[in-house]
Amino acid sequence: MLSTVVSGAVLGIEAYSVEVEVHLGRGMMVFSTVGLPVGAVCEARTRVKSALDNCGFGFPQRRVTVNLAPGHIRKDGTAFDLPIALGILSADGKLPSAALEGALVIGELALDGRVRGVRGVLAMAAHARRSGLRRVLVPRENAAEASVVDGVEVVGVEHLAQAVGVLNGSEPLPAPAVPPQGRPGSADVDLADVRGQAVARRALEVAAAGGHNLLFVGPPGSGKTMLARRLPTIAPPMSFEERLESSIIASVSGVLPPDEPLLDRRPFRAPHHSVSDVALTGGGPLARPGEVSLAHNGVLFLDEMPEFRRNALEALRQPLEDGHVVVARAQYRLVYPARAMVVAAMNPCPCGYFGHPRQPCVCHPNAIRLYRNRISGPLLDRIDLQVAVDPVSTAELRTATPGETSAAVRERVLAARERQRVRFGDAGARCNALMRPRELRRHCKLDAGGEALLAAAVERMNLSARSHDRILKVARTLADLGDAPSIAPAHLAEALQYRQLDREVLP
Ligand SMILES: Nc1ncnc2c1ncn2[C@@H]1O[C@H](COP(=O)(O)OP(=O)(O)O)[C@@H](O)[C@H]1O
Ligand SMILES: [Mg+2]
Ligand SMILES: [Zn+2]
Repeated sequence: MLSTVVSGAVLGIEAYSVEVEVHLGRGMMVFSTVGLPVGAVCEARTRVKSALDNCGFGFPQRRVTVNLAPGHIRKDGTAFDLPIALGILSADGKLPSAALEGALVIGELALDGRVRGVRGVLAMAAHARRSGLRRVLVPRENAAEASVVDGVEVVGVEHLAQAVGVLNGSEPLPAPAVPPQGRPGSADVDLADVRGQAVARRALEVAAAGGHNLLFVGPPGSGKTMLARRLPTIAPPMSFEERLESSIIASVSGVLPPDEPLLDRRPFRAPHHSVSDVALTGGGPLARPGEVSLAHNGVLFLDEMPEFRRNALEALRQPLEDGHVVVARAQYRLVYPARAMVVAAMNPCPCGYFGHPRQPCVCHPNAIRLYRNRISGPLLDRIDLQVAVDPVSTAELRTATPGETSAAVRERVLAARERQRVRFGDAGARCNALMRPRELRRHCKLDAGGEALLAAAVERMNLSARSHDRILKVARTLADLGDAPSIAPAHLAEALQYRQLDREVLP
């Protein structure tokens, strides 16, 4: 009269086991759930009852009590439908309890018994393996996602009746989901698509090589978005661990592409500038990961940066500093990884055409200043590379030969990354952009010529101490790209070119 089915839930990006206990008691037919069910879990009753009826199993004419343990964590979502239904059948003697041993069961039920997909399956499958469970019973549409984890048998079902048939042996096991292959011709964009734009292309390469955040300043249509989208294509390929991390974040957020259950390409997230601080950094009533976590291991693109809300940009500062976001709740604390590169884009002025070779700017100088001031401060401080993007003329667009491919640029990026890895070792900075002050002093020494050049630039451009360090980091990356052991004046001179907003003289 009592049965237990193991199910799972996700808190943050960590899955944990939930025991679904079903007890059939004497008395009037009632169906109650206990164990802090909230939201959609409360409605499981309706779905489960209807699904059982519609599959011809009927609903026991007893007092049905469903307990979700551990009891102290709130449980939301629809993934407990299937384990509750199977638990009821088992308690009712319609399913041998041995059939459910060693399995983790998740799935939403439609009223007619179809099994619908749920979020977070990848994290739960990984948890099942860690907990020594043999099999996961999941919605068919999540089967490919679950099969990313090896060492557990994945049974993907489309229907409650099918699940019961498979468990009691009257139906064959469904064909295993095709394990993810990675998409053919993986990237659909390539740096070769960009004509001209030598400086901006070089800046992208430097950003990828040293992990530097990047800002493009240029008029509408100059190709800022096009360039930004191509940054992931020249970054080093993701390690298996990175792929798993990013996939789990996407999975718990419900944005994992069905045909790419183990992400193969670095994420590229481009939230609209009206995005709230919570949506950007995570949290809210459901404590979901924010855009910066969805961009983990990839690129967070802030298009039209001056249009973002001030508090949203402020909220990004800490995550970018720490590489993770902490969402605090009364009973628990969630940590979401958030190691993303930021690429931002902006027009040079409100009308967009300040400095344009052919189109006049109609903005008052004060309006330009106000506009620029919107991005000054915390976030701009974290951006090592500021680059002006001038539009490529129509004639040039038509005649220029295709640019170098992403694959070719990526080779150089990889070589520069390898130099950094050797230099910093396992305990040091992951890339030049993340050098700590000690590493900066040790690895960014200048010769006399370099010191003089930098001192003159600081004087002339009125650079802050922060800008000064930033220039050194970028110069270090330029030296790494050139396979030079130390920073030469030429590297410094180029690094100084990437301080567009410091350099430019406003009207
Ligand atoms: N350098 C370029 N090479 C090829 N196409 C370009 C280039 N610059 C702009 N384009 C074309 O112009 C379109 C607009 O570019 P976009 O990246 O949206 O500009 P922005 O973001 O600066 O407003 C692109 O989709 C692309 O078709
Ligand atoms: Mg754009
Ligand atoms: Zn203007």
